[in-house]
Order: sequence, then C-alpha cells, then structure tokens
Amino acid sequence: MAEVKQIPPVSEPGSNGAAAPRKSVSQDENAPHSAPSAPAYQARFAHIVGWGYHVPAKVITNHDLEQIVDTNDEWIRTRTGIAERHVAADPKETSVTLAVAAARKALEVADVPASKIDLIVCSTTTPEYSFPATACLIQNALGAHNAGAFDLSAACSGFVYGLAMARGQILAGDAEYVLVIGTETLSRIVDWTDRETCILFGDGAGAVLVAASDVPGGIMAVELGSDGSGGDTLIVPAGGSAMPTSLESVSSGMHYIKMDGKAVFRFATRVMASATRKVLDRAGFTTDEVDLVVPHQANIRIIQNSVLNQLKIPADKVFVNLERYGNTSTASIPIALCEAIEAGKLKPGYKVVFVGFGAGLTWAACAIDWRTPVEKQSTDWWRATRRQATYGAAAARSMWKRTVRWVYDVLPTDPEAPARDDGKDKETRDAPLKETARSRDAT
Ligand code: ACO
Repeated sequence: MAEVKQIPPVSEPGSNGAAAPRKSVSQDENAPHSAPSAPAYQARFAHIVGWGYHVPAKVITNHDLEQIVDTNDEWIRTRTGIAERHVAADPKETSVTLAVAAARKALEVADVPASKIDLIVCSTTTPEYSFPATACLIQNALGAHNAGAFDLSAACSGFVYGLAMARGQILAGDAEYVLVIGTETLSRIVDWTDRETCILFGDGAGAVLVAASDVPGGIMAVELGSDGSGGDTLIVPAGGSAMPTSLESVSSGMHYIKMDGKAVFRFATRVMASATRKVLDRAGFTTDEVDLVVPHQANIRIIQNSVLNQLKIPADKVFVNLERYGNTSTASIPIALCEAIEAGKLKPGYKVVFVGFGAGLTWAACAIDWRTPVEKQSTDWWRATRRQATYGAAAARSMWKRTVRWVYDVLPTDPEAPARDDGKDKETRDAPLKETARSRDAT
C-alpha cells in the first residue's frame, strides 16, 4: 500500500464536500464593499494517489484464434505486436465486475474509503446497459454513497478524458476525491468471425483515484480532441437511435465492431504525436524531460510510428504491455500504468505522459508531474478486514434499499386504492424480498 499522507487534501470539505476558497491574509475585513479585492484561492493540484487493475482469468492466444478464423500467430505478432488477450469467458464477468475489482485495488493503494469519493467517472464502450450508467452500478457495489456517478463515451481516449474531468472538478474545488475507471468487455461486441477485428481486442479494467492536494504537481495539463467526420471508421452501427436493435440488425451483425483499420492507423499515428507535443508544451515540459510515456496499447506499430519515431522518445521510456492484453480500449492506459509501477518504471519526480486515440474519432493526452510514492506497502490485516466489511455493508445497504423500494411499490399509497397489481410476474417481484430473507437467514 502506498503511503499517500504526503499528498493530503487541500482543506476540510464543507457540508457539500467541496473545499471552500481560502481568504488571502492580505484581504482587509473592513474594506468597503465598493472596492472588493479579488478573492484569493489556495492553489489546488490533482494527484493520482491510488491505482489498480483487473483482467479476466481466461486467456486466448494467437494460436487459439488460428482455430476459429483464417489467421496465424506470425501475422498477428508482426502487424500488431499482440500475442494473447484476456477475455471475460464467464457470463458473470461484466464491465461492472471488472471495474469494481480494479476500483477496490485503487482505493486500497490510496488507503481511502469509498465513502470519501465525491465523483465516479466510468469510461467504457461496453457499458453494462444503455442506461443506467455503469458508473452508478459501480458506485452501488463500492458503497460510495457520497459520490455522483456518470459514464463517459470517448472510446479508447476515454480514460484520459476521465482524468481531465477529475482534474477539472478538483481544481474547481468541487471534489476532493474522484475515481476514474476504464472498463471494457469488448469480447461481447467483437465479431469472432471477422479476422480483421477479433484478433485485436481484449477485456479488462483499470482505475485510479485522483485526489485534491496543495502539493504542487500531479496532472499538469490535458489535451482533448475530436473529429466526428471519422465516426464511421470505427463504429458499432446498431443498438442506438440511428439503428435500433432489430432482428435484421442482429442477423446482419450490425451490433459488432466495424473498423476501417488502415484509416484508424493513419489517424492514430498522426494524433498520438501531435497530442503529446501539445500537452507537453502546455505543461512546460520538453520531450527530453519526459521519463515515462504510457500510450494507448492498440498496436505496437502505431506506438513506434508516433511516440518513438516522430517524437524521438527512446523505447525504454515508453511502457508497452499490449503483447499480453491486446487492445483493451479505455482500460489499456490504466492497466499499463499499474504494470509500469509494478515494474519499477515510475518514481516520484518523474514526468509522465498518457496519450490515446479512439473511436469518435477522439484523442487525448495528459502530462503528469508524478509525486505520489509508489512503494508497495505490506497489507495491514485490520485495514483489509475493515475494508471487506464496508463492502459487505454496501451490499446489505443496497439490498435494504431495494427492499424498501419494493415495499413502496406494492403498498397502496392511497388507502382507498387497492394494492397495485399490474400483472407483473409475482415471482420476479418477490425476488428481492426472498433474497433478503435468504441473506438474513444465512447470517
Ligand atoms: N490474419 C491474417 N491476415 C489478415 C488478418 C488476420 N487477422 N487481417 C487482415 N489480414 C489480411 C488482409 O485481408 C490483407 O490481405 P490482402 O492483402 O490479401 O487484401 C492483408 O492481411 C493486409 O491487411 P491490412 O488491412 O492492409 O493490414 P494492416 O497492416 O493495415 O493491419 C490492422 C491491419 C492491424 C487492423 C491495422 O490496420 C491497425 O492496427 N489499425 C488500427 C486499428 C486500431 O488501433 N483500432 C482500435 C482503435 S481503438 C478504439 O477506439 C476501439
């Protein structure tokens, strides 16, 4: 567990969780109202203080893919750099379960309880449902009962977009802790008969906790971009308002990823380099000063053609793990960040760049002056037990709320009116109560 106390929150939150702007010592209490001095705010910075990732256990190698599509290990390795990917083979593994596992690890590293989170930003292209937001389901599972939650759709650039949202909330004084998650179960929207796409993608989730601090550093600059004219180069055509799901849309495979690989490749090599240049400029860093680049892990040739060749950043400063995970879209940068930390590639004082591109088309980069200690702390059994207990309590609270909602649903609000019976399957309606009774009996 990392010691994060060196990066304390800037100030005690007010009743709404927001830090109040601090008055400058030079402000005169008796100054006339007609001549107000500009309010002075204490500088705030947004630091990543916790990180975690989770991938499904099932691994599909290139050789496994040779059995289902007309491809071969050599082609996939030389064209993409990918050797294997993790896939959510168990139907119970979803974007939420992967995200919750990653988020719990991030909270453990930061040693911050879920109750302190002010906002959860979940980036995903494979949400649990069209709505409700995947972020809300994660909020419920974590027991983050003080958090707002929303999903963000910017495909593979989404995690960095999420960091930009977190930084904005923190610098504005509206949040002390923001949980940013990238989670994907792309295997569920990949056409496993299409060799041009199914070899590329993998499943997984990564999460970071971003905290307010008065320690200078952290996320120093962000660069976000989009070009919707290229929207059709990487798209899931069906399932939205343009093409609602129908028998025809499913039978023609329109609910799967469609990609113009070459167009995406050209776009990616261009924007990865330009976004990195812009964000470094904005942060006041030179490319020579960069200690670590964590790029979106789509294709080794894209990374070579952009970060290495165009920016001339040496390979030992660029973290790559796509060989073992494939392209996990928005989860790829946080997963790579965690592995870079595990590999000892990141130290306090390092200047770090995250850069990604994706469907939309979108691109995003951020420059970080990393200050958080990264040494792995030994697990304190008492804290671990307490943390587990809070997750148990979160599940119980959720069950209780469902039950109360169910009771309100079946009881007549107007005493004159008969109890509601809209023909809903009684078995389904009774399920939450039965489950509550079962859990109660079990304890
Ligand atoms: N195995 C064997 N041969 C294949 C395969 C395969 N899996 N896929 C395509 N081929 C064949 C093609 O049919 C073609 O054959 P042909 O010359 O007889 O017509 C040949 O290989 C070359 O195909 P290209 O499409 O030219 O291959 P390319 O070098 O462009 O590589 C790739 C394809 C890997 C998809 C590349 O274009 C790429 O990486 N593009 C970017 C994709 C990407 O990053 N997408 C994710 C974006 S992130 C997000 O938002 C989800």
